Amino acid sequence: MYIVNIHRIHQTLPATVTRLSGSAMDTSAAGIDDAWLRVDGDSIGAFGPMSVLTPDMLAGHEVTDAAGGDIVPGFCDSHTHIIYAGTRDGEFLDKIMGLSYEEIAARGGGILNSADLLHSTSEDSLFEQSMERAREIMAKGTVAFEVKSGYGLTVEDELKMLRVAARIREAVPATVRITFLGAHAVGRAYAGRQSEYVDMLIRDMLPAVAAQGVADYVDVFCDRGFFTVDETGRILEASARYGLRPKIHANELDCSGGVQTGVRHGALSVDHLERMGDDEIDVLRGSGTVATMLPGASFFLGMPYAPARRSVDAGLTVALASDYNPGSSPSGDMRMVWSLGCVKMRLTPAEALSACTLNGAAALGLSGRLGAVTPGREASFTLTRPVPSLAFIPYAYTSPWIRQVYIKGKALK
Ligand code: NIG
Ligand code: FE
Repeated sequence: MYIVNIHRIHQTLPATVTRLSGSAMDTSAAGIDDAWLRVDGDSIGAFGPMSVLTPDMLAGHEVTDAAGGDIVPGFCDSHTHIIYAGTRDGEFLDKIMGLSYEEIAARGGGILNSADLLHSTSEDSLFEQSMERAREIMAKGTVAFEVKSGYGLTVEDELKMLRVAARIREAVPATVRITFLGAHAVGRAYAGRQSEYVDMLIRDMLPAVAAQGVADYVDVFCDRGFFTVDETGRILEASARYGLRPKIHANELDCSGGVQTGVRHGALSVDHLERMGDDEIDVLRGSGTVATMLPGASFFLGMPYAPARRSVDAGLTVALASDYNPGSSPSGDMRMVWSLGCVKMRLTPAEALSACTLNGAAALGLSGRLGAVTPGREASFTLTRPVPSLAFIPYAYTSPWIRQVYIKGKALK
């Protein structure tokens, strides 16, 4: 298939570039104007300027006229919790009335509320509810995403979530990576006995999860009021024996040592990072761990934004993700995340785009396959409506911008 009359193809990077750090994250020079693009099967075949396109090149191919739209690489959303039952709009009112995320959790709401709902929801219904969110984010330009467990909090219910995750992975054209998050909160049956919950997680949950063979990664909510650095270390060590690499929640509520713990255990990413001092930045620099920031949670909870500008200026590999979940970020709209990256975190549109695409792919363990327009990489991108510039997309943050999403070479229906 050929797409012709493309106004500009953005983020055309060489195959050797699999993640971008610091000032290199500004990919605004990596593009081609007035272009065509060829898709071979599920991959990008080639692209070039319209001036060199001849009728014989098109012979025998399906041709789509971009009509002056742009091509933007698809979003790689490296942190979501889209598998959940029901909603938490009841807590929305508590929040408006001034209760904090931690206060809601301490009253037995929050994650435990979602765990109760999940427990009483059938597996088929959980799958259907979660698929609706998967379809929603793909229609908004997400071509690869992570899903976490963590609303089960018992062996049976964590396995149930992971089975649903595996069904979603089979059912969608997007690439899905799955993370076991048994240490999201202490399950109700263990209230007041956190260390026993951690013992049970290591003794019973982890072997069962490993035997099931669905999870790619392990996560721990390492933060004030949730799991300590020591507990996180124990869980990550035990997980490593099953080949589960960490992608952890860290430094959302406090400078709690989560970043250092993640880096020490070779985490693919440390996520949230609303509370980051110079120490955390120093530890991350050159570590190979992606610094993943979730501005949708800051927006929704009224928290400070993670220091993206400072982190990019310090040379870190920064990714942006949605954190789509019922408690702290009930949206998986990566275009909104892109916008927040610019408006609230002071990243340039091109920096924030590489954070939502190429660096998201790195945080998903999909480096080299996704996140840029490169011959040989997956043909997973968005054809836009005509837009005056790349900046227009995060700038006019509610105007329709998508003409067609393509995943693995096929137009998303
Ligand atoms: O990333 N911080 C921990 N976990 C989620 C929220 C989960 C929930 O409240 O349901 C987050 O913000
Ligand atoms: Fe999260």
